[in-house]
Amino acid sequence: MDMGALIARLPKVELHLHIEGTLEPEQLFAFAKRNGVALSHPSVEALRAAYDFHNLQSFLDLYYQGTAVLQTELDFYELTMAYLERVAAQGVVHTEIFFDPQSHTDRGIAFGTVIDGITRALTEGEQRLGVSSKLILCFLRHLDEDAAFATLRQAEPYLDRIVAVGLDSSEVGHPPSKFERVFSAAREHGLLTVAHAGEEGPPEYIWEALDLLKVSRIDHGVRCVEDANLVARLVEEKMPLTVCPLSNTRLCVFPDMRAHTLKQMLDAGLKATINSDDPAYFGGYMTENFTAVQEAFDFGPEELLALSLNSVEASFLDAGAKARIT
Ligand code: HPA
Ligand code: ZN
Repeated sequence: MDMGALIARLPKVELHLHIEGTLEPEQLFAFAKRNGVALSHPSVEALRAAYDFHNLQSFLDLYYQGTAVLQTELDFYELTMAYLERVAAQGVVHTEIFFDPQSHTDRGIAFGTVIDGITRALTEGEQRLGVSSKLILCFLRHLDEDAAFATLRQAEPYLDRIVAVGLDSSEVGHPPSKFERVFSAAREHGLLTVAHAGEEGPPEYIWEALDLLKVSRIDHGVRCVEDANLVARLVEEKMPLTVCPLSNTRLCVFPDMRAHTLKQMLDAGLKATINSDDPAYFGGYMTENFTAVQEAFDFGPEELLALSLNSVEASFLDAGAKARIT
């Protein structure tokens, strides 16, 4: 059987995608021109050549630099629409998108400008492309608790457009415990919770995300395999892990795809899913991530369908919508 053809046909659900990480260099240059923003790289090619990362922080430095070109509601709309068009062509039927409001509000962009542009595209994407979606507000963990609370307050008028809060940015030194109270406040608003944990940070951060932040999914979580008790708990609770294979190799979490722990995770009974994280920076969207793991582990139809099904089950869709995908 042709695995490439199967991957192309597979109904895909994306659960770990930073919308700011879909900003392709060409679009970045176009927005910079439109908004009169000076860039530190002379050309699209020079910028792309700089996407040579050695850890999470080396990526984040460029990622936050890139956000400077996003200024208007139209920018956020076009950014989101371009992502939806690309993934619709790859067979993505549902996507749950992170956005980083603090990376914009700290530059003087209004929260409403950001969310209005993103959600205008999400609504159009559902109607015109048939891609359903949900939106997850991420707090930047390198900033303090007060800043996260201020962001949650700014989100209050828009809570009907947000399904969950998440936690991203520089992991090591910023444990989930730092955000226990703001996550509790978010849950009191009726929001679900997720958190990046165990990407570069230790297994203890995954325990904290479960116990203190009461998450419904762990984002990344690949370092869980270092702690047998943690793996047992994650299996027992059927806790989804949103794994991002190309991100993990590009950020040197693993030296190459064959060294990735995905297969070990699936063999242990963990609910791993495949996602693209920041596709414009890491060399691929959903299809490229599926292809990379299929080739590295020689996955057949059984594994590919199991991964696809894990994502449907781990999504925040209601039971009826899940049944329509599978
Ligand atoms: N990890 C942490 N923060 C991020 C990431 C990631 O993979 N992508 C965008 N912000
Ligand atoms: Zn991420």
